[in-house]
Amino acid sequence: MKTEMTRRNLIKLTGAAAIGLPATGVTGGTATSTSDKTTGQQSNTRTFPKNFCWGTATASYQIEGAWNEDGKGPSIWDTYAHTPGKIKNGDTGDVANDHYHRYKEDVALMKNIGANAYRFSISWPRIFPKGTGEPNPKGLDSYNRLVDELKSAGIEPFATLYHWDLPQALQDKGGWQNRDIAKVFGDYAGYMAEKLSDRVHHFFTINEFRSFTEAGYRGFEIPAPGGTRTVFLAPGLRVSPAELNQVRHHAVLAHGLAVQAIRAKGKDGTKIGPAENIEIATPLIEAPEHIKAAETATRERNAPFLTVMLEGKYTDGYLREAGKDAPKFTEEDLKIIGSPLDFVGINVYTPMFNVVASDQSPGWRKIPFAKGHPKTAIANLPIDSAALYWAPKFVQSLWNAKAIFITENGCASDDTVADDGKVYDTDRIVFLRSYLTQLQRATSEGIPVKGYFQWSTMDNLEWTAGYGNRFGLMYVDFKTLKRTPKLSATWFREAARRNAVV
Ligand code: FCB
Repeated sequence: MKTEMTRRNLIKLTGAAAIGLPATGVTGGTATSTSDKTTGQQSNTRTFPKNFCWGTATASYQIEGAWNEDGKGPSIWDTYAHTPGKIKNGDTGDVANDHYHRYKEDVALMKNIGANAYRFSISWPRIFPKGTGEPNPKGLDSYNRLVDELKSAGIEPFATLYHWDLPQALQDKGGWQNRDIAKVFGDYAGYMAEKLSDRVHHFFTINEFRSFTEAGYRGFEIPAPGGTRTVFLAPGLRVSPAELNQVRHHAVLAHGLAVQAIRAKGKDGTKIGPAENIEIATPLIEAPEHIKAAETATRERNAPFLTVMLEGKYTDGYLREAGKDAPKFTEEDLKIIGSPLDFVGINVYTPMFNVVASDQSPGWRKIPFAKGHPKTAIANLPIDSAALYWAPKFVQSLWNAKAIFITENGCASDDTVADDGKVYDTDRIVFLRSYLTQLQRATSEGIPVKGYFQWSTMDNLEWTAGYGNRFGLMYVDFKTLKRTPKLSATWFREAARRNAVV
């Protein structure tokens, strides 16, 4: 592992300029101590670096609604949701949170909880209704309006270019199975950078490569106490192992071409990176041999995604294991995929798997989650806050990332409205506090985490699980679309205000 940065270096590197943020309009405390005026207590041990981003995140299909307004083309999620039986209770994103029309109210809510950053995604078919060709000016205007509203609220916009709502017209040409998609994605990314990079300084290329390729083209195994479970995402296909590897390859190639296009078309200083749900191996025992085993496993398990993006080559282990099913690629592809990045975004919800060191190849052994392992009330995800320490730690130790953002973290809860109209989501508060405690452990060691985006700003359409899985800091009544900040929103505001774990 590379040596960690010293505390002095950390303070030097975490200024606003280091992440391209303006020095003004950013809330948060100081790097070393925060004075609590209410209690008089000095919380100088659990603070985050200066100018840390406190944000929340959403995605277009999950909140926007307006599925066929202002010239938007259909996406694969419109098609999927309109196919009976694909989404729980027949839910769709046709209206969703109606954020397309209510964005001003939503920005005001974010401002109220002290957020200084917001990660949203752009719906590709709003911009290019057919995926490519003539852009749709009304689609672009809707994001101009959102970005301007955020800026005037002092909230830094972070844009994700692909959060799974592929234009249906491109799916009709083979979707991610067709290599041409990489080039058209690059063109779309360059167009967005040209139009928004005067105000948007950070672009995420693609959200969760692993999820949309594997769940979209085979079914994605996710850990569950006592075993695993399989989830699907649009387009819900089941392709062969060789075809799936090719889909994965096209996704990272699209990312690389997008990085190059944004550099070519965006304003100087525009920062670019992926937002990946890193498959994080957590060492069950914090001793050098187990930590090393977990780090090795993390590199190998991310071989088709983060590892190839950050190393510019597929690992021998991945190619060997894939054998005849390995993706077809050129040396030039690898160069594009490995285009230099400004930061690495990682989504971290759950320890994907636990490991201990082993004498046998490959040097680590996966330990299944015990049946009684703590899990979230909804979605059954194993809980272990240490994942939010090990994920950035390994991103830095393996790839020496210049900067890291936690692009998603949060939990779904069985939220209900109490008699007094409030939502007391104690479980979410405990979850956030324990995960952020581990994140603060990482920043205090000098790991260059520049910001944290809680998933999600408000309850929304949780893909095939429908509206039942509530991840928001704001409760949404999906009959009236009324937003009510939950108690966890108050917790978030306090943490952001003090720039600390509270
Ligand atoms: C992530 C997705 C996001 C949301 C959360 C709960 O995998 O990126 O859209 O569904 O999970």
